[in-house]
Amino acid sequence: MSCSDTQSSIQAPDSQALMQVHGGGIRQAAARYGIAEAEWLDLSTGINPYGYPAGEIPQAAWARLPESEDGLEAAAADYYGTTALLPVAGSQAAIQLLPALREGRARVGILEPSYNEHARAWRAAGHEVIPLSGDAVADAVPRLDVLVLVNPNNPTGQRFDGADLRAWHADLATRGGWLIVDEAFMDVTPEGSLAPDAPREGLVVLRSLGKFFGLAGARVGFVLAGEALRTRLADRLGPWSLAGPSRWVAARALADRAWQAETRRMLQARGQQLAELLRAHDLEPSGGTALFQWCRVDDPAGWQDHLGQQGILVRRFDAPGSLRFGLPGDPGEWRRLGAGLRRP
Ligand SMILES: Cc1ncc(COP(=O)(O)O)c(C=O)c1O
Repeated sequence: MSCSDTQSSIQAPDSQALMQVHGGGIRQAAARYGIAEAEWLDLSTGINPYGYPAGEIPQAAWARLPESEDGLEAAAADYYGTTALLPVAGSQAAIQLLPALREGRARVGILEPSYNEHARAWRAAGHEVIPLSGDAVADAVPRLDVLVLVNPNNPTGQRFDGADLRAWHADLATRGGWLIVDEAFMDVTPEGSLAPDAPREGLVVLRSLGKFFGLAGARVGFVLAGEALRTRLADRLGPWSLAGPSRWVAARALADRAWQAETRRMLQARGQQLAELLRAHDLEPSGGTALFQWCRVDDPAGWQDHLGQQGILVRRFDAPGSLRFGLPGDPGEWRRLGAGLRRP
């Protein structure tokens, strides 16, 4: 059974339910429901609740201007399997800049639904965005100048096969086109990554330390691409685009193989646990990754409100009607979600 036509009994008190462009937004939720910020269980993002422990950051990381080649690039090259990389202040920084580096009015295929910042940025730069459903990508490629795929996709969890991605890239690249693959949620399954293919003309892979590493606040991401594109991006970003403490923490996280291996195992188990918990409440996930589950529902606003009244924040999508659940952290949070999912 797919997520739930059984939920129509849960009604939102008004049609306004919480508007969200992204996950997060606890302050807005706190004001709306009259529940203190500290009381909320925030499941509205796909951030690992058991993130990398930042540890004690040396004073020098705060005090000195950050320098490249301080260990961050080397650790990243080892982790991603390529030296063709540029650190950025979160992959969002690159998502916003890439459309400005593309001359003319490009025809840009972007998944729908997906992380909506891609479409927003390409539209804002004057390009033509062509929304694509997950199974329409192959047919669309010959008509596109740029293809942007989130792999695995957020929120649907859809994964794209490496052979398909390489074929689409080859097709685009012969025409001067780009394939941009946003791998923000790839770290649990690194075997699916195109990162080691970089550098290749017309291929851009985006990575983030915000999800698997749980370091969203540090604002660290990477662009894996050819040298010419990296240089143009670096010129636009200017010097010191990453803070010293962020560089310091990211270098350690990327080098810590034991933490990564253990975290991969743990997140895979937690992801399954979340899917089972949702299933037990008639919410059959339609897709997801280890870090979130995505459920189609008939009444997303009603569901969001039902959970919101109990201080549980989830991300709602209206097209198609669906909810995304991030991972609870400690056992108390799991219990709270289980209790919150019970229907009135
Ligand atoms: C698919 C995807 N890509 C990129 C980002 C941006 O992440 P960051 O800027 O923290 O690296 C997000 C954040 O939610 C995301 O979901």
